[in-house]
Amino acid sequence: MRVLLIGSGGREHALAWHLSRSRELEQLYCWPGNPGTALLGENIEGEYQDPEILADWARKQEIDLTLVGPEAPLVQGLADSLARRGLLALGPGREGARLEGSKSRAKELMQKAGVPTAAHQVVENLEEVEDYLAENPAPYVLKADGLAGGKGVLICEDREQARREAHSILEEERFGSAGKKLVLEEFLEGREASLLALCAGGDFLLLEPSRDHKRLLNGDQGPNTGGMGAYSPVADIPPGEKERLGQEIFRPLLQCLQQEGIDYRGVLYAGLMLTPAGARVLEFNVRFGDPETQALIPRLRSDLLPHLHAAARGKILAEPLQWKEETCLCVNLVAGGYPGSYEKGQAISGLEKVNPSTIIFHAGTAYKGGRLITAGGRVLGVTVLAEDLEAARRQAYFEASKIEFRDKFYRHDLGRE
Ligand code: AMP
Ligand code: GLY
Repeated sequence: MRVLLIGSGGREHALAWHLSRSRELEQLYCWPGNPGTALLGENIEGEYQDPEILADWARKQEIDLTLVGPEAPLVQGLADSLARRGLLALGPGREGARLEGSKSRAKELMQKAGVPTAAHQVVENLEEVEDYLAENPAPYVLKADGLAGGKGVLICEDREQARREAHSILEEERFGSAGKKLVLEEFLEGREASLLALCAGGDFLLLEPSRDHKRLLNGDQGPNTGGMGAYSPVADIPPGEKERLGQEIFRPLLQCLQQEGIDYRGVLYAGLMLTPAGARVLEFNVRFGDPETQALIPRLRSDLLPHLHAAARGKILAEPLQWKEETCLCVNLVAGGYPGSYEKGQAISGLEKVNPSTIIFHAGTAYKGGRLITAGGRVLGVTVLAEDLEAARRQAYFEASKIEFRDKFYRHDLGRE
């Protein structure tokens, strides 16, 4: 099979790592890929810009399957552009991608499908915000409706802060058109987990549960980064519970999408809050998670490629996925200053000291003059498989300490239950 993988992060390196071992793979192209994927397939230079250009390229190269890593190309309609040329994509079309591209749309669908989620209200002006604040207790959760690079969710301790934030989004257009509408949401407490499923029409195949650590600092403090590291499996979602969540969340949502004429073919990611009253969906993403994927892929015994290919054709294979019992933990090494401004171009050293069983997934790296340098906020994902979470933690942190670059930063409490 000739596969095109879109994206350049740790998630894409993890997928490329797995695909490159598949018996069904004939050729792997990564657009644009990174130094990690360059060892596994052929990187295509140039930033992703226009779905039509990419789809033309895919047709010329006779690509059998395009896997889309990040959400932006899906929201822009890449899967539709490929479908118009008769090409298969794993990832929904533009309409399906609105599940991630518009939080109000996601809420509407969840409500319609009866998927458990936080109570909410959609507002478009400050008067409506004021009414909401008067009727609901703090803390307040404000979500910009559109894509805001992972920065669009704000938790406000009191009304004054909520007013200020709402003003900066609705009036000062801090997130541009992504902030035209706001979703105001009930504040939920609990531990978070990510449950992903490979979906095709009304059918789905659950992947293993994982947990991402989104905040920058130990103890879940500091700004939201989207992912300082992840691990799988997750003790508070045992196998029976995973199946139950599948029936409670994915089954009705996919049915609802079908009723609206959306044939969803791709990965659907449910971000969950495990509250004392049960799991609630915080958000849906229309793609693999990053860094959840880095913690899932090494646990796979089965070849995922035939499953991905079948889902892109609208089928879920009957054969279940086989997973290793071991725990996988991925620690992201990030550039000092991330998720704010940070330096690029710092020399990376120590990779040769890492134990060969450790997988280093590249995210923000580049080669310059034959030397590996930092080229992004999330730089490398140090990933280990071990018999349990504690062993995985110990090993991953030992390996992480061997790699050096200026202002290297990482959390030290990942996987602490
Ligand atoms: P999201 O971008 O939707 O993943 O949200 C980012 C983070 O904000 C989540 O991972 C949660 O930690 C937090 N969050 C989102 N919605 C809520 C909520 N309703 N209650 C409490 N925390 C939330
Ligand atoms: N790890 C969060 C995300 O992929 O959106």
